[in-house]
Amino acid sequence: MAIPRQRIRLPQGAWRSAITSLIRGDLWEGSHIERFERDFASYISVEDAVTVPSGRAGFRFLFDSLGIEPGGEVICSAFGYPVVPFIVKSMGYDLKFVDCEMATLGMDPKLLAQECSDTTQAVIATHLYGVPCQIVEISDICASHQAKLIEDCAHCYGASVGSNKVGAFGDAGCFSFETSKVINTMGGGMVTLSSSEVGQRLRQLAAQEPRNGFKWLARRLSKTTFEAAVTNPFLFNMGVYQVLRLASSGSGDEDRFASGYQGDEVSLAGKMGRYTNYQARLGLRQMKTIENRNQRRTANAERLISQLDGKIPVQKPVSTEEGSYANYMLATVLASSLKKLAAALLKRGVDSKHLYMRDCSRMFEGEAAFPNAARAEREVLHLPAYPEMSDSQVDHVASSVDEAIAEISAQPAAA
Ligand SMILES: Cc1ncc(COP(=O)(O)O)c(C=O)c1O
Repeated sequence: MAIPRQRIRLPQGAWRSAITSLIRGDLWEGSHIERFERDFASYISVEDAVTVPSGRAGFRFLFDSLGIEPGGEVICSAFGYPVVPFIVKSMGYDLKFVDCEMATLGMDPKLLAQECSDTTQAVIATHLYGVPCQIVEISDICASHQAKLIEDCAHCYGASVGSNKVGAFGDAGCFSFETSKVINTMGGGMVTLSSSEVGQRLRQLAAQEPRNGFKWLARRLSKTTFEAAVTNPFLFNMGVYQVLRLASSGSGDEDRFASGYQGDEVSLAGKMGRYTNYQARLGLRQMKTIENRNQRRTANAERLISQLDGKIPVQKPVSTEEGSYANYMLATVLASSLKKLAAALLKRGVDSKHLYMRDCSRMFEGEAAFPNAARAEREVLHLPAYPEMSDSQVDHVASSVDEAIAEISAQPAAA
């Protein structure tokens, strides 16, 4: 039985709630938004939380509400989601990069200490793939220069360092609720804030967004239903896997399906339109069961990683402080022969994902000035370890990696 790279689920009760909300007339506005924001703020232990149309829209509103001066210096990790530095640049800030470190793949605090100065207005620290970056060290550096700290928590709902949840270390944290994320409300996001004043400003900006309509709802439901179908193990085995095998054997655009099962599309605008009461209802429902799902995902990822560690570099948290927790939205290894490994795994029924994050410095500055970010873009490979997988499926992934590595090392080196 082939294993899809990720399992995207249609949020529980998505269709039913759409119909009942439609009948009740509380699809767009209602009390669920306030409850979702309140419960979220209390879970992360922050002053305020505000729902936003998407993670990237959250960043845009944040820059306006945090009062970062136009032209001010903003530091991002060189390895990350390109949309974030795009937004920084498009808003007229002076964008600067710092390289990542290879253990967590997050911003390297030692390099940040060299780059951050009293002219730095803000630092964006990303917790990639569910593994927290070295946020305590990064937070200390920001504090010593009075730079604002924004945490990109798009992947990291529920993760913590010591007794603090990610999203509570900085002035703000940006969460995404896109379909592949830990909480999936078919789009949207949440910004957590250490100041309720900033929260009020951000809430006003988010409220100026136009209201979504039925076309939006139909598109979101059909897109998510499609994604849930292609990543459903049964349907995956009934056709998607065979298509991927065919696509990977051709000489065409081999990166087409690298990240998702559809061609990659990174848009700056992202999903806009006011966050809906309907989505907040889906989010609230998931908050109740998420700890369980996160625990199962973490157990699977740790089982996989413990079998691979020492054979291939793996991404893992560095904090040993009690209470630290990674949710492993994606289990990640670094493969020096990435494409060969991905192909050898697919042959064994293990689908994998790559090219999700990028060396952003290369995209902006035209050349790879940061060796770790360049290596991460070349080598990061995500293996399936989602919550629904059984122990024997996880073990199958681990043994397939072993076999694939042996197969690749037995191949004659290219001339
Ligand atoms: C690390 C990271 N930051 C920000 C975002 C943007 O979130 P959204 O797609 O909700 O705009 C994403 C989306 O995948 C992401 O992966």
